[in-house]
Amino acid sequence: MDQIRIRGGNPLHGTIQIGGAKNAALPLMAACLLSDEPLVLSNLPHLADIATMTNLLSELGVNVAMNGSAPGGHAGRTFKLDAAKTTDTIAPYDLVRKMRASVLVLGPLLARQGRARVSLPGGCAIGTRPVDLHLKALEQLGAEIELAEGYIDARAEAGLTGGHIVFPTVTVGGTENILMAATLARGDTVIGNAAREPEIGDLAKCLCAMGAEIDGIGSDTLRVRGVERLHGAGHAVLPDRIETGTYAVAAAITGGEVLLKGARTDLIEAVIDVLGQVGVRFDDGPDGLRVSRTNGGLTGVDLMTEPYPGFPTDMQAQFMALMTVANGASMITETIFENRFMHVPELHRMGADINVQGRSAIVRGNQKLSGAPVMATDLRASVSLVLAGLAAQGETLVNRVYHLDRGYERLEEKLSACGADIERVRS
Ligand code: UD1
Repeated sequence: MDQIRIRGGNPLHGTIQIGGAKNAALPLMAACLLSDEPLVLSNLPHLADIATMTNLLSELGVNVAMNGSAPGGHAGRTFKLDAAKTTDTIAPYDLVRKMRASVLVLGPLLARQGRARVSLPGGCAIGTRPVDLHLKALEQLGAEIELAEGYIDARAEAGLTGGHIVFPTVTVGGTENILMAATLARGDTVIGNAAREPEIGDLAKCLCAMGAEIDGIGSDTLRVRGVERLHGAGHAVLPDRIETGTYAVAAAITGGEVLLKGARTDLIEAVIDVLGQVGVRFDDGPDGLRVSRTNGGLTGVDLMTEPYPGFPTDMQAQFMALMTVANGASMITETIFENRFMHVPELHRMGADINVQGRSAIVRGNQKLSGAPVMATDLRASVSLVLAGLAAQGETLVNRVYHLDRGYERLEEKLSACGADIERVRS
């Protein structure tokens, strides 16, 4: 298994290109199942999760033509996804267990094919993460659902019908699954307490380009008027706000200055607000978003993760790494996932002073981090260890790098181009 070796202490200086958002790309790819005409998606990131979704769609009979890639696949890529001849409605365990977002094929398959058999995703490192809310909402649209042998068996032979759904908890994937399903349901669907993450707005815009009728995009109430069929369309994936925030922390934690090309500040207002209080400076200009540390150094700030437009849970681990070297203490409260402090024991090994009490972690800052061998446990936890390694004295060796490859494209290349001493050790 590959490892990432970092020798910390170099301030980052340079330019980093922000790629297309993984969490927008995955539901957008699943949306191709809603039409018998091709969906052309551009600005797709080059990531392991995108490959997993490509494999899943191929198993379902979708023809995936890849083009538009620069040599080495380094530019945002373009896929033409043609689901004219889908041959299967089964998402097998082997693919779903690799990536929970595979469950996003459930709504589209059910809506267009009238049936779907999707493996239950099961737990993952950051919590139990059930899909009960997806299933309840699909039942409200008339689906018959049975759980057997580890699979979700869903049927709507006569098609789905519109309904009024109010999610008891904000769920990103649940909102996406129901939004896609509702586009082909008979009649109107209202989705209340919908997640407002920008990736959902991106999906909704693409669905509209395919002929769907959706009102309330960007709000917590989505109104969908079902149509008979969707047609082909082209759509460019929006920039990755979590990649943007991660590299902003990289600049801050090393005391450097980076220009993030293609970043959109309107997608990360909460992150900019909190990092601004910490002492990170953001200058948005025509050539990109410039991020640096203000002269006053870094100050500990309390933080609570929340659904969008609040501070994203996917930035919590990176923020914690930053707080370990800030002046003063910080209380970080995780409200979205119950077990999302897996990075804490690894950060301890690097000299961090963090005390977890239930859903909150108290970080006592001002620590001199030192390099250590550490273990990646999930995607965002892994990148927090890389960030800590960039600031630490000595060598950090991050194991289980496959977690990073799920969501960060050419991480080590992007960082080393800015002066970080970082390399992938292949094995
Ligand atoms: C998505 C993102 C993930 C991000 C998360 C929260 C993708 C591919 N992944 O994950 O990166 O961390 O949003 O912003 O976009 N829940 C239930 N029952 C359900 C569904 C969810 O109890 O049926 C709970 C979850 O366990 C969790 C909370 O609701 O505690 C939010 O989960 P959700 O928003 O659904 O996350 P994902 O869509 O899985």
